[in-house]
Amino acid sequence: MSLIAATGISTPSMFAPASTPAFAIRDLSFLVLAVVTLIFIVVAGVTLYAIVRYRRRPGEDGGDPPQVYGSTQIELAWTVVPFLIVIVLFLTTTRYIFALERHAAPPDAVDVTVVGNQWWWEIRYPRLGIVTANELHVPVSDDARPTPTFITLESVDVIHSFWVPQLGGKLDVIPGKTNRTWIEPRTPGTYVGQCAEFCGVQHAGMLLRVTVHPKDEFDAWVAAQQAAAADVPAVRAGRDVFTSVACINCHTVRGTPANGLFGPDLTHLMSRATLGAGVAPNTPDNLRAWVNDPAALKPGALMPAMKLSNDQLDSLVAYLATLR
Ligand code: CUA
Repeated sequence: MSLIAATGISTPSMFAPASTPAFAIRDLSFLVLAVVTLIFIVVAGVTLYAIVRYRRRPGEDGGDPPQVYGSTQIELAWTVVPFLIVIVLFLTTTRYIFALERHAAPPDAVDVTVVGNQWWWEIRYPRLGIVTANELHVPVSDDARPTPTFITLESVDVIHSFWVPQLGGKLDVIPGKTNRTWIEPRTPGTYVGQCAEFCGVQHAGMLLRVTVHPKDEFDAWVAAQQAAAADVPAVRAGRDVFTSVACINCHTVRGTPANGLFGPDLTHLMSRATLGAGVAPNTPDNLRAWVNDPAALKPGALMPAMKLSNDQLDSLVAYLATLR
């Protein structure tokens, strides 16, 4: 949470919704909470009453009180009332689920595919030709021109779960099965999420952040992401290190020979605020430490330590720092 505190991002809470499905989920939660609170008060109240009213008093012999065997009225009451409560909760929940699942995409909806990997998120915009990682960018939506984001969820390895509490419900990300969900953020800002299904040693380090932009700002972000990687002559030495060692087997930098698919696309690495799916701020020092030995920042991370010399490391990080 220190990273969240440092960047002024609000704590992820489903009780502070900022997106259409999240509003519905909060309302449903309040209804369920109200019903179970009422049940608690009644049960606790009756229990307390019985304890006080029928306690043993001085002078009583302590024998059993009169026993009642069979009461149709009482048995009906404790069967019918809970049944009705369950019916109400079931029907209300079903109505919300259908309303959310059957929501049709308006023409301006954004399409995103989020792919769970141990332990990071690949984020693709198939219609925009963008590939990035761990930080989802979407436009804010308004009634005049709704721009919700429809999210296709896939996994390449194990079961993960996509959850950004302020924006929508939790949905599992399952290998061999495609799940779909949608969000419709109403307020610009940055919202944090987290893989919500245990998926291995760095499950807790599989963070996610969603930046909701005003529409023109989102268009600018799209244009910047669509551009090929910067080619800065001053850092050619670092680029040569990048393309001559194992980096390119796993990473893509569009416009270079690097077209690996196993790790995050690095074409616009420096446009991301964090490293290692949110485990550290993306600063030059952290980036250097990450490339030198990812396990130092994220024990168990599948990227190997590259065993580069200090000179190679310096020039490689200088090159990566130009990938804006
Ligand atoms: Cu991915 Cu937990």
